[in-house]
Amino acid sequence: MHTAKLLRHPAATPASARKFEVVFEQASDAIFTVSGERIDAANHALEDLTGFVKGELEGHLVDLLSPLSRPELHLPERSRGFAREMLEAPGTYEDVAVLRKDGYVRLVDLSVRETDEHYKVVLLRDVTAKKQMERELITKHAELRNAYVAMERNNAELKAMQETLVQAGKMAALGELTAGIAHELNQPLQAIRGYGQELQAIFFSSAGSEPKDPRQAEIRSHLGEMVKGVDKMTSIIRYLRTFTRKSTEGHDFVDLHHVIDDALTLIGVQLQSRGIEVRRFFCDQLPPVYANPVQLEQVFMNLASNARDAIEATSRGSGAIEVHTRVSGKLVEVIFKDDGIGMDERTKAKAFNPFFTTKEVGQGMGLGLSLSYGILSKIHATIVVESELGKGAVFRIRIPTDYRELA
Ligand SMILES: Nc1ncnc2c1ncn2[C@@H]1O[C@H](COP(=O)(O)OP(=O)(O)OP(=O)(O)O)[C@@H](O)[C@H]1O
Ligand SMILES: [Mg+2]
Repeated sequence: MHTAKLLRHPAATPASARKFEVVFEQASDAIFTVSGERIDAANHALEDLTGFVKGELEGHLVDLLSPLSRPELHLPERSRGFAREMLEAPGTYEDVAVLRKDGYVRLVDLSVRETDEHYKVVLLRDVTAKKQMERELITKHAELRNAYVAMERNNAELKAMQETLVQAGKMAALGELTAGIAHELNQPLQAIRGYGQELQAIFFSSAGSEPKDPRQAEIRSHLGEMVKGVDKMTSIIRYLRTFTRKSTEGHDFVDLHHVIDDALTLIGVQLQSRGIEVRRFFCDQLPPVYANPVQLEQVFMNLASNARDAIEATSRGSGAIEVHTRVSGKLVEVIFKDDGIGMDERTKAKAFNPFFTTKEVGQGMGLGLSLSYGILSKIHATIVVESELGKGAVFRIRIPTDYRELA
């Protein structure tokens, strides 16, 4: 052993040299001493680190451990090769690549201490595993971030889907509720109408003669209003029943272009008088869809009358409605677009809710879109809207050519 070399202190005793040797050999860090430019003594840990045995280290130039003599070696990123110059400037060096006997390199934190001008002690702490872990950590971190981004995206999709489901569920529940209410209200309403008409008949029977009581004329007019009110309610109920009727009665293969044309013709005069131009972008060879044409026509009437109102609300005195159709697999797509006033977020979120309207009393019941939604969902079709305030609205409808094939 080279304890004597290690302990050059004149006061060193054999006992203290012995202790020192134990510490030197047992140290978990690799240590070697350098005399001049040659390795003087090396410990076990250095043998483990470099793969050289002591005999191959001691007495050799320190360059033995330098990867710089092997330019073909690829050093790890942000590391530098061990160089003789490091011994000239004692201190600590991080991420130093030390050459092993097998041609690989190990990464160490290296510290050089000088005991005298010609004698140095070099400590090497192996950080290869630590660096490897750091690199893995960085990779894992990137993976985690990507996963997080993907998760956020999925989450947003899930939320959108959930909202659609909630809307669908709400509509189904409301459908049943409305069917029930419509049924229950119809009976008493008809009774009220009957009594109203009977009372009218009683007052009208004496119509020739001047009413004895001047209040009779007032009563007669009130009765008229009452019957009119009941008629209005009855028409709403009829409207609601179309929406909730479950049967497939009146279903057939229909030409959607015809249906759209019919709806636009029905409302054509109203559109023309407001300077609204209708532009059709119909695709060739649109396959027929299995549906009730009368109900589908109602959907396009509702969309057209909403577009009419939205354009009128801009006070420009003119506007345009575009209707595009196209085929996408087993679906037929209709895009119904207007350059009207558009919707803010709140209106857009509630547009399909029954009785939601932004129109003045007497102008809208807030049923058009919810009924259209109901009619379409019965044939497994979907309707979504894109709109911004001041930027018009786009309704996108997708109808399966034959919804029975989906069931
Ligand atoms: N094309 C559109 N542009 C701007 N807003 C629209 C459009 N279509 C619908 N809306 C908004 O959605 C609301 C609900 O429309 P919906 O057709 O259900 O009811 P309504 O038109 O108000 O009444 P109804 O159709 O029963 O006469 C409208 O009041 C309006 O605020
Ligand atoms: Mg409407």
